Amino acid sequence: MNSIVNEKELFLLAKEASQHAWAPYSGFKVGAALLTDSGEVYQGANIENASYGATICAERTAMVKALYDGHRSFSALAIYSQGASSAWPCGICRQFIFEFSEKARIITGPDEDHLEFLNVDELLPYGFRLKK
Ligand code: THU
Repeated sequence: MNSIVNEKELFLLAKEASQHAWAPYSGFKVGAALLTDSGEVYQGANIENASYGATICAERTAMVKALYDGHRSFSALAIYSQGASSAWPCGICRQFIFEFSEKARIITGPDEDHLEFLNVDELLPYGFRLKK
């Protein structure tokens, strides 16, 4: 990864972000750190809701923050989950990042010394695109 942050540093930023989670229902705190093509990092955490269905995942929290600021292309997304070995993104989050960057590198693992990597198009082959 050719950037100001390496994969390990991005994962550690995801780990830090997990402390910002609001997860009183599942107790499952997740953090994400998204690297834009221009080298900026956006952090996110899961924000749960009493309705359950309104819950927003850590990955989409980070992506929405970056998208609002005008970023439209991402090179990597690190995900950390407190208490889980690895935290691959859910189906909705895979589709969400596929919209912008099907080659983005997804980074997760139990800790920063045991990272695993897959690209978005490996996690979501044949992702949906609206053809007009
Ligand atoms: N969660 C994420 O933040 N990211 C994922 O990719 C999967 C699940 C959150 C949502 C919910 O707050 C908790 O984990 C349990 O599903």
